[in-house]
Amino acid sequence: MTKQMDVVPRLVAAAVVVAAVGAPARAAAPSTVEVFTYWTAGGEADGLAALEKVFQAQYPSTKVTNAVIAGGAGSNANAVLATRMQGGNPPDTFQIHGGAELIDTWVKSGFALPLTDFYRSQGLDQKFPKQLVELVSYQGAPYSVPLNVHRNGVLWFNRKVFDANGLQPPDSWAAFLAAAAKLKAKGVTPLALGDKDKWESLQLFEDILLATLGPESYRALWKGTFAWTDPKVTEALRTMQQVLAYVNEDHATLTWDQASGLVLRGRAAMNVMGDWAKGYFTANGWKVGVDFGWAPAPGTKGSFIVVTDTFAVPKAAKHRDAALEWLAAVASVPGQDAFNPKKGSIPARTDADRAIYDAYSQGAMADFARDALVPSEANGPATAPAFLVPITDAIATFVVDKDVARAQSAIAAACRDTGACAR
Ligand code: GAL
Repeated sequence: MTKQMDVVPRLVAAAVVVAAVGAPARAAAPSTVEVFTYWTAGGEADGLAALEKVFQAQYPSTKVTNAVIAGGAGSNANAVLATRMQGGNPPDTFQIHGGAELIDTWVKSGFALPLTDFYRSQGLDQKFPKQLVELVSYQGAPYSVPLNVHRNGVLWFNRKVFDANGLQPPDSWAAFLAAAAKLKAKGVTPLALGDKDKWESLQLFEDILLATLGPESYRALWKGTFAWTDPKVTEALRTMQQVLAYVNEDHATLTWDQASGLVLRGRAAMNVMGDWAKGYFTANGWKVGVDFGWAPAPGTKGSFIVVTDTFAVPKAAKHRDAALEWLAAVASVPGQDAFNPKKGSIPARTDADRAIYDAYSQGAMADFARDALVPSEANGPATAPAFLVPITDAIATFVVDKDVARAQSAIAAACRDTGACAR
């Protein structure tokens, strides 16, 4: 993650070079498209393969090169992407979260291709919810195509373990702590955590922040208008401190999907993760509602942390026409309906076939339509990307030293220093 952000400031200089030399010539006969993602875990990889199949049916003469870099949430991929962009050797199309990750990193620096004409030619102007189009647009022009909506901050639980211990999914962090104490006394790890790539503990923290602050102050916090020095943030850190007493000891060596595997194998009772974890569970043979249950992360009912995976095209893509073919498959109903049931997400398009989605996803669709929609920092990010590194590091340190005062002042200082609080 740190590596990723080290390179971002240098992008502006590289953007000047791109602007000076202008966009490269388009390949005359596109025959290949290099698709850059970080989808390697169960569910993620299956979704991508299903989308690729739809693409191949729609564009049989274009070959897909799968450029995939392991590491959830782009923790490794984004650094590679930045290096390739700066080196003038970008992939033809790349996976990117809607919001600041796309706009602040690749749009404002001049790297991403504006897609106004593409949206018009594909008839996409009315096909996505307004909020998603806003997340991928800058100065009125769209720069990527949303493939899905993920819900971040879901509590997943192993039904057998819950039934054996007479537990209901906790609806507050206080209820979580009570259930966790009971499980720990019986020798069961209450909460699976895998924060090898660091973003996972930031993600847990943002779920606790949302529960403690409520959606309005939570939004204001990321906008820089709610103070990080507020006692509510202290309270959230104290809760996190208590929650950390109930995670698996080897959390620092596991990835998010390995941690989900602990729940799958009954070695832990719960995890709190985005609904890509549902894709992981079902890819491993678990049945929705039978083997595992879910609930909003404790204390967050009525709020929905929105994460949208999108695809963009670099201006310097070698195979621009083929990249736009990929985007057309991403934008299509068959593409979205092949990908999302396997990925755990819901379709970005409002006219996809809802009937083919399982009970979890139908519930997510209903919640997305009525809940307070709020952003994620760990999978987004919600702020200027420059703030992501120091807050990720501050929480990673907090996981080790559990020092509430130190973490709070480090985050508040980083917010000031990166300008994220002056917005
Ligand atoms: C998120 C991404 C998801 C999922 C997850 C774990 O940031 O939006 O698609 O793959 O990371 O890799």
